[in-house]
Amino acid sequence: MATLPRPLVGDGSPVPCLDGTERPYLSFDAAASTGALPAVADRVQSFLPMYSSVHRGAGYKSQLATDAFEEARASALRFAGRTGGDDVAIVCRNTTEAINHLAYRLRLDRDDVVVTTVVEHHANLLPWTRLPVQRRFVDCDLTGRFGVDDVVAALEHGVRPALLAITGATNVTGWLPPIDAIIEAAHERGVPVAVDAAQLAPHRPLPAGADFVSWSGHKMYAPFGAGILVGPRSAFADGDPFLAGGGAVDLVDLDEVVWTDPPEREEAGSPNVIGAVALGAAVEELEAIGWDELVAHDIELAGALRRGIAAIDGVALLGPPLEETTLPVATFVVEGMPHALVAARLSAEHGIGVRHGCFCAHPYLIRLLGLPQAEIERYRDDLRNRDKRRVPGAVRASGGIFTSLADVDRLVAAVTEIVHGGAAPVEYEQDPATGDYWPAGDTAPWSAGDRSLGASCARG
Ligand code: ALA
Repeated sequence: MATLPRPLVGDGSPVPCLDGTERPYLSFDAAASTGALPAVADRVQSFLPMYSSVHRGAGYKSQLATDAFEEARASALRFAGRTGGDDVAIVCRNTTEAINHLAYRLRLDRDDVVVTTVVEHHANLLPWTRLPVQRRFVDCDLTGRFGVDDVVAALEHGVRPALLAITGATNVTGWLPPIDAIIEAAHERGVPVAVDAAQLAPHRPLPAGADFVSWSGHKMYAPFGAGILVGPRSAFADGDPFLAGGGAVDLVDLDEVVWTDPPEREEAGSPNVIGAVALGAAVEELEAIGWDELVAHDIELAGALRRGIAAIDGVALLGPPLEETTLPVATFVVEGMPHALVAARLSAEHGIGVRHGCFCAHPYLIRLLGLPQAEIERYRDDLRNRDKRRVPGAVRASGGIFTSLADVDRLVAAVTEIVHGGAAPVEYEQDPATGDYWPAGDTAPWSAGDRSLGASCARG
């Protein structure tokens, strides 16, 4: 029996709209972050009375907390398909921290080559950018995709790369690169692979063949601040860790340190026990639902969402054609209407939360939007002058296990009304410093005095 969609904590909470009414909040922002599964919140609630320091206390509660932390680590390894081997799961804050951690730990130097792709989130671009390494990129076509052959060409272009760093699913279009075939091709050429699985983790099984894999709890219904980096123990066995401090050592004197073994060697400082417990509970919940149902729901949702948005006249869906299976992500532009205005109106008039802008994936957006170089230079100049009014971008609606087909209908009706329903009920004005649009007037909580509450929605 189907158990999805499954509501998250706080789903449908009433939020104020411009017409003075409240509407049940509808999140279409799962690719950014999700609410908590009730089972996750319950686990955190029941663990809290037993919370204590882990790996640092002799008390009974410390023993329980240490067990809970280690159980969560074991769940993470199981989720990554790593049982019985010699891989370790390092608990960190999120995918960004995990990839920075890995980039530091691999100790690459200027002769090394990292192959990555233009579809990456900044989390899987910038940590490699600031290393002294040479980078080689796999480019994409206008639909935001590349093939195994393109990756192979980059791998074989010169000296053998030290690493292929690649996403398992893009946060912008929801496209799923053929990751297993890519990993196989890289391994055939002796290249290890690190997969950014931030988007993949809540939607598909993690690629068991990847050498390194990282993901975040806050995108898989456990928004308590923990993420995971999985990799072979040997990669973390020598040298100093990314973070230096207590918990990572066996012996310290003023001029010497004996680091402890991984994974603790990589987890200096008191770890985020609550976050780890939450992430472990989310793993168990997703396992209980099972991939068959998760994937079936995902595919049905993705199809309805992308078809519904693409069918609106004057709206262009970015990314792969409709026949291709993607994550439930629809990223689109509305002809003649700024992305920031569409997102502001969905929120203020319809109680729907989406993300807009470039989604922390600027090189990918530049390609998907087909922006000419001269235009990019103009935007750069604007940004150097702290003027974000013309920042290019798109609107992204993304769903998850909590999203129903009725939710898709509500979103599609709202976008249709914004595009074809005539003038907005009030004027909207744009803040040059953030690029955000705000309804003019004094309807609480949308008045000028309330704006300190508002996010700068399009941060990169
Ligand atoms: N990476 C997150 C997103 O795509 C924040 O929105």
